[in-house]
Amino acid sequence: MPSEPKGKYTNSALRAGDQDPYPQRLVGEFIGTVVSNRSVNDEYKHLILDVHEHALNAYAGQMFHLLCPSPDDEEVWMRRPMSVYRVDRQAGQVEFLYKVEGRGTRGIATLAPGDDFNLAGPLGVGFKLQQGWNNIVVLGRGVGLATLAPLSQLAAERGIGVTAILSARNPAVVMSKELFEGLGARTITVVDSDGSSAIENVEKIIEALIAEGKADAFFTCGSNRLLKLMQRLGKKHNIPGQVAMEQIMVCGFGACYVCMRTFEVDGQRVLRRVCRDGPVFNMQEAVGW
Ligand code: FES
Repeated sequence: MPSEPKGKYTNSALRAGDQDPYPQRLVGEFIGTVVSNRSVNDEYKHLILDVHEHALNAYAGQMFHLLCPSPDDEEVWMRRPMSVYRVDRQAGQVEFLYKVEGRGTRGIATLAPGDDFNLAGPLGVGFKLQQGWNNIVVLGRGVGLATLAPLSQLAAERGIGVTAILSARNPAVVMSKELFEGLGARTITVVDSDGSSAIENVEKIIEALIAEGKADAFFTCGSNRLLKLMQRLGKKHNIPGQVAMEQIMVCGFGACYVCMRTFEVDGQRVLRRVCRDGPVFNMQEAVGW
C-alpha cells in the first residue's frame, strides 16, 4: 500500500479492475499503480504502471497527460504530456521512458512501487502503418526514441520489418535498443562521440537501406536535423513518412490552442494543434522548428 497518494485523483478515475461506465469513450482518466520506476542510465528512467484495461487501447505515437507529483512540495500546475513507450496488454501495463529534467519529470522520478499515478488518455493521433509496406526505417534521437519504440510493437504485429537508426550523444545514452531488438528490429547505433551521427553518415546509411529495398516508409522524432534529412530523402525517392512532433501542451485535448505549430499543406501554411491533430503528422507537411 502506498504511504500517501502522490497524484491527485477524482472519483471518476478508473483503477485496474473497476467497472467502466463508459466503455465506448476514447479517452479516460485512470489511476495507475506503479510497478517499477527504475533508472536505465544517468538521464533516463523507465516507469511501469498497472492500469485499467481501457488505458491499454493506447497505440504507438499516442500519449497520456500525466498528473505529476511535486518534487519539492510546491504545486505542479499542469499535467505533462508523454508518449507511451510500451503497452503490455497481457500484463495490463503501460510503460513510459522519460528523461529527468523539468519539475514534472523530477516529480515522476519520486514514484515508488505501489504509489498511485493519475493519467488521462490515450490522446492524439499516433503512427499508422499502411497496407503494402514490408520494411520501414525509423530514425530518432534522444528521448524521441522512446516515442518511436512502440512502432516496433505495431510493426511486429503486422509482420513488417524495421530498421531502427538510434542516434545519441554517446553509447551510454542510446535509448530503446533492447525494445527494438526484442521485437525483431535491426538496429544501427550512431553517436556523436565517434562522429557516426553526422548527417552525411546517416544519409549514407539510409541511402543503402533504400538501395536494398528496405525503406517503404520513414518515421522520425526528436531531432529537427534528422527530420530535414528524412524529408529531403523522402522527396528524392518518393518515400512517405511520419513525424511525431514534440510540443509544450496545456489542455492536451484541443481546447486551449497552446500547442499550435505551422505546417505546409499543398503550398499553404496552416496551423494545427499538435495534441489533437497529431502528435504524429505527415512528414512532408511538417515545417520543423
Ligand atoms: Fe491545448 Fe493542444 S494543448 S489545444
